[in-house]
Amino acid sequence: MSNMSEWKVICRVDDIPVLGSRRVARPHGMDVAVFRNGEDQVFALLDRCPHKGGPLSQGIVFGTHVACPLHNWSISLEDGCARAPDEGCTQSFACKVEAGQVHLDARELATLAIDLQPPLAGPCASTGAVGDATYDVQAPHTA
Ligand code: FES
Repeated sequence: MSNMSEWKVICRVDDIPVLGSRRVARPHGMDVAVFRNGEDQVFALLDRCPHKGGPLSQGIVFGTHVACPLHNWSISLEDGCARAPDEGCTQSFACKVEAGQVHLDARELATLAIDLQPPLAGPCASTGAVGDATYDVQAPHTA
């Protein structure tokens, strides 16, 4: 881990539904989904399935995976990679919990996967920008 990390408080662990997620909007790039599993572990992935861009934040968490809501691929919350025989990985983000607060690395939020575009239409279409607000935490999704 680099000491360049700039940890930014995102929300409380308790703000994330168990086996669900919350989305974190970024000024550039797609949202980051922050997941909580049944053991209160917290993980952060780009909100974009490596298959066809489905919104992983709408998926159901089980163990250390999330099931994509579109075609049910299992994506590892630890490294963002699809479980075999499916292939592909989505960007994962460093995430830490301290005193019940979820932190993400501000530098990663500002730089990782900012070029990836959301799907333009269909069930996984983006709802678009959220104005000038940075790192707004969106309404929770309950599985
Ligand atoms: S888009 Fe996620 S499984 Fe197809």
